[in-house]
Parts: sequence; C-alpha cells; structure tokens
Amino acid sequence: MKLWSGRFDKNTDQLVDELNASITYDNRLFREDITGSMAHASMLGKQNIIPQEEADKIIEALAGILADMEQGKIPFNISDEDIHMCVEAELTRRIGDSGKRLHTARSRNDQVALDFRMYMKNQVAEIRVLVMKLMEALVNLSEKNMDTIMPAYTHLQRAQPTTFAHYMMAYANMLKRDVLRLEDCLIRMDELPLGSGALTGTTYPIDRQYVAEKLGFARVCENSLDGVSDRDYAIEILSDLSILMMHLSRFSEEIIMWCSWEFKFIELDDAYSTGSSIMPQKKNPDIAELVRGKTGRVYGSLMGFLTVMKALPLAYNKDMQEDKEQVFDAVDTVKACLPVFTAMVETMSVNKTNMRNAAARGFINATDCADYMVKKGLPFRDAYTIVGRLVNYCISSEKTLENLSLEEYKSFSPMFEEDVYNAIDLETCVNMRRSQGGPAYESVSAQVASIKKFLEDNANEA
Ligand code: ARG
Repeated sequence: MKLWSGRFDKNTDQLVDELNASITYDNRLFREDITGSMAHASMLGKQNIIPQEEADKIIEALAGILADMEQGKIPFNISDEDIHMCVEAELTRRIGDSGKRLHTARSRNDQVALDFRMYMKNQVAEIRVLVMKLMEALVNLSEKNMDTIMPAYTHLQRAQPTTFAHYMMAYANMLKRDVLRLEDCLIRMDELPLGSGALTGTTYPIDRQYVAEKLGFARVCENSLDGVSDRDYAIEILSDLSILMMHLSRFSEEIIMWCSWEFKFIELDDAYSTGSSIMPQKKNPDIAELVRGKTGRVYGSLMGFLTVMKALPLAYNKDMQEDKEQVFDAVDTVKACLPVFTAMVETMSVNKTNMRNAAARGFINATDCADYMVKKGLPFRDAYTIVGRLVNYCISSEKTLENLSLEEYKSFSPMFEEDVYNAIDLETCVNMRRSQGGPAYESVSAQVASIKKFLEDNANEA
C-alpha cells in the first residue's frame, strides 16, 4: 500500500508505477537521505515537535538502515516509488509508530532537494580533486620539457615556435578555471533547502539553522518556494562539467593528432592504447577518442536538463525528477574519464626530436626575422613585406631561412648582417619571448610556479 494511498479508491496502474518510480536510479542517494533524516529527527526532538525518546529511536533505527543499505541488504523495489519512501517504509517496519513521526514538518519536495544538493556537493568536491590531479601531471610534464621546442599553430598551420612546457601550461590554466568554476558553484549551492516544506514552509517551530549546521551547510535557502524548486546548481554543475569536457576534448584532439604518423610528437603507453582486430600494425588512441566522444554526452545532459526546467511554474513539479539521471550520467562520465586521461598523459612519451624537426620547417621563425629588421630601425610593416618575399623565395628554391646565404639575404635588404642567423635560431626565438605568459624559460617557470601555488593553496579546501 502506498504511503499516500488514503485519498485514493483504487491502486495505481502497474505502468504508472513503472513510469513514476525513481528508485531504480535515486537509490544512490540513500546515504544523503538517511543522514538528512537523522538531522531532521534530531531537530524535531530538540524543538519538542516530537518526543525526544521517539527522535532517539528514529535516529538509532536509521543508523541500522544505513548500515544495512551499505551492505546491500535492503532491496530497492519500485513499489516503494523512490528512496525517500523506501527508507521511511523500512523505518516504520522496524520501529512502528515512531517511524511514522519522522515526516512531521517535512515534505518529499524539500527532502529530495536536500538529498540532491548533499550528493552534488560531494561529487563536485571529488571532481575538483580529480581535475587538480590532472593539473599536477601537466606540471610534471612541463618541468621535464622546458626546452622541448615545438611548433605552435594557428589554423592548424605552423605559426611560431614554443615549448612543450608552454603548451602544457595552456591546458593547466584552462583546468584551473574549471576548478575555480566548481568551487564557485559549491559556494553558491551551499544552502539548506530542508524546512521549505512542500512549498510554503511549515507551522511547526522548526530550527533550520540547527539542521544546516548538523549537515554542513553554510546557510539556509531564504525562500521556501525557491528552496524546493531551485535546480540552478545542477544546471551550473552541468555547465561547468561541459566546459571541463570541452577542454579535455580539445586536449584529446591534439593527442590524437600528435600520435598519428603525420605528427609523431608523442607515443602513448601501451597500457593506454588499443589495437585493431584486423590491422596488425595499429596502435589507436581510443582513450582520447572516447573522452572526446563522451563530451557530447555531457553536453546532452546539460541541454536535456535545461529543457526540462524551461517553463516550469513554481514550485515543485514532477518533471524535476528528471534532474537525477542527467546529472548522475554527467558526473559518472566525468569521473570515469578524468583518472584515465591523467594516467594517459602521465605515461605518454614525448618525442623531442620530431617536435624539433617539425619546428624547423614551416618558417615559424619568420616573425622573428621581421622583428630582427625592426630592431635595426625598419617599421614592422616594411619588415613584414620583405620577409614575406624571402619566404616566397625560399619556397620556390626549396630552402629554409636558416640555410639562405648572407648574399641571398642582402639581395632582399642591405640591413641583413651575419647576426641574422642567431636571431632566427629557434632556441633564440623561444628564449627571447620573455613577455609575461610567453614560452621563454623564465616565463614558463613563472607559469609553472603559479599553477603549483594554486594546487598547494587549494589542496585542503573542500
Ligand atoms: N522522487 C521525487 C523526485 O525525485 C521526490 C519528490 C516527490 N514529490 C512529490 N510531491 N511527488 O523528484
């Protein structure tokens, strides 16, 4: 019999039960549901809303249910509809009438809002740590590749020289923003919805502050209608995770290109690559491809849930039950991807020679050649034109800027002297780029130090 069956003359249709039930997926909220109920019972006792002995009995029995659920001893049946009713029914089976007092001054609407928030707070904190582990891997990789010269690209055309360390620090900075976004979301969502009742609070003398403190919330939601119907935090988390996955997907794309024969900048460890069932020579970057592919899944959850929430009037509507699967799937996906991605990055080997060889072709020091003339007094636009002609000449005569003779240089401008060769040397090009944020050793060292400091400062904050 349903907890709410009193008003009805008939049982619900079996198909209705199947569509209506959320227990098949919200059972993962059992810890939050039970801890939330313990805090609620404790408050009801303290406020004399129910007798203290009954509150104590409820709390003790809930602890027993929690232990049994941890061990998988309690089956989740769709006849219980959702995790909230499942726990309450079990409680009443165990302690009879006292169990029936737990739901005083509470509704499933503020209860589910509480459980979901508590669960998401923990998930966000876990994901935040996983992102920082990836950042740490990038710091290590950077420290080993401070002088690994490679071409940097715009339009996927070789553009200017940089180092692999500089490149990795770009991703570290993207991930730092992901961590900050998650932390920011945690601050905003840290409000207790319990006590909002079904939608307009309650006539009982509840103490929401007490429950908030017991459950580790910084504040209580200030408006009960908003308290039960706010899912902004879920949408924010989905947005934050979408941006994070977009970063991982961009990185994956580069890794996939870098381990192709066309690039061969890196080689993935065998433990993080896969083979082909037909082509014996293949070593495929499936992990990077899966991360890139799963990004679509996380975007899908964001779009899906934004659409669920669109046009919902206040306050609770059953549509909102659709929050869970979308968010759970996104969280599971990100948590599955991050550790493998980190291990893949940690174990990949960097082919410094191939990167250096690629940097030597494509005229990526042409800007430096123009800058050389600017430093001798020529306006940049004129220098740019002369070097454009030089490059054109090199292409038609199959030469590089490095192996042109001084006579050839001088035929384009008398300004060129012997020191041009040093100015266009790739090491010089990189190490002269000392501007803040650039690839020179000192600049990248500062970037690495800054990320390290960020990781240290954020290590202990939840
Ligand atoms: N299972 C429901 C959910 O996930 C719990 C809240 C139900 N409230 C209600 N009035 N039907 O949203």
